[in-house]
Amino acid sequence: MAIDSAHYIGREQALVKHTFLDRYLPSLIGKVCSRYDEFVYVDGFAGPWQSAAGESFDDTSFGIALTHMTAQRLLYLSKGRNIRMRAFLVEKDPSSFAQLERAIARFPKIEIIPLNGLMEAHAARIASCIPQSAFSFTLIDPKGFPDIGAMLPLLKREHAEALVNFMFDFANRFAGTDLIPALEDWLSALGSVGWRQEVEGLSGSERERKLERLAAEALQITGAYSFSPVITVDKVLHNRPLYKLIFLSRHAEGLKVFRDSEAKALDTQATARSASKAKKRAESSPIGDLFADGEDAVPNDRSSQVIRQSRQDAIRALGAQIMTAGSSGMVWGNLWPPILEDFSVTRSWLGHQVNDMRKAGRILAPGWPSERKQIPEDSQRLILAQAVSPT
Ligand SMILES: C[S@@+](CC[C@H](N)C(=O)[O-])C[C@H]1O[C@@H](n2cnc3c(N)ncnc32)[C@H](O)[C@@H]1O
Repeated sequence: MAIDSAHYIGREQALVKHTFLDRYLPSLIGKVCSRYDEFVYVDGFAGPWQSAAGESFDDTSFGIALTHMTAQRLLYLSKGRNIRMRAFLVEKDPSSFAQLERAIARFPKIEIIPLNGLMEAHAARIASCIPQSAFSFTLIDPKGFPDIGAMLPLLKREHAEALVNFMFDFANRFAGTDLIPALEDWLSALGSVGWRQEVEGLSGSERERKLERLAAEALQITGAYSFSPVITVDKVLHNRPLYKLIFLSRHAEGLKVFRDSEAKALDTQATARSASKAKKRAESSPIGDLFADGEDAVPNDRSSQVIRQSRQDAIRALGAQIMTAGSSGMVWGNLWPPILEDFSVTRSWLGHQVNDMRKAGRILAPGWPSERKQIPEDSQRLILAQAVSPT
């Protein structure tokens, strides 16, 4: 579906999050439908929250999810497969919940279970209602630090993925004090003891990276996930992170689709922040300034810098990994997942780099099928040329 940026004026962070969901969910649901008989979407903090799209609710996480679930269900019905699709939507605020109840009438093809009250109180029951054979995607998108321990029955499900919003700005501001015991609880509920000492003395991007990894790895380990990459959502007018979206998956394919969706979300973030800064400047300058330039221009946005740096680091990691594999090399299917785990690059972009290195003679790719082939198959063996060349 097309996300309408006009619905996100003044809450551009939600645009980034929703752009990600809008890209990620159809791919996930499509893949799940080909292998499972049931898909369950759980929105623990459903809203609607500051929605501006009127009765369509196109600018809410549940609206985006239910739209894609409906489309995939109809698609699979037309192929003769009746996939059960359910959505558990939890909202504590009574007036938001009343809107939520009205909104779900728009999605008659999905079994929707709206639940009023705290997600912490509902999570275990929801998990017990999902059969082991079903695949679930859980969105945990609070405004502060909920009791994450209460969500574990959902996060620990075997066939599952999740997106967890970690309120980085809160964590960063208060990590050295006792002001937010909830943060302490959050990390210690996930077994991360001694995190204060790890953060102490760090500042700037080092501190950001450390807090991010502590939060993501605590979730990854507790839920026995293989991957926990993170999207950084920045404040709109300040070059600082607001929150971190931690993605949890057990599948390399999930990681691949995550990076594709992240690329679109970061692109959207760079454009939205740059435009907001230009608008702010225009409002405060008598001459007016409709286009961001200099440090506010899209290529200089923090998201654009992340992509550039990631690409450089990924190329280095690619070379180092193939070099370590020596003269027998390694197959592409084992090469790309650890690189995508560490860096914000897509599999397609990395595959094209491999092809360029092959054409330049720096990588050997025995049995490369044709010059029209752009990206290796997972079974393609890749060997660093200098590992086999005579010395
Ligand atoms: C950030 S908004 C969610 C936005 C929504 N996920 C989206 O992207 O469109 C958080 C929502 O969670 C609700 N909420 C806060 N604490 C909650 C809790 N403990 N359990 C359930 N809902 C809660 C708030 O009323 C609010 O509507």
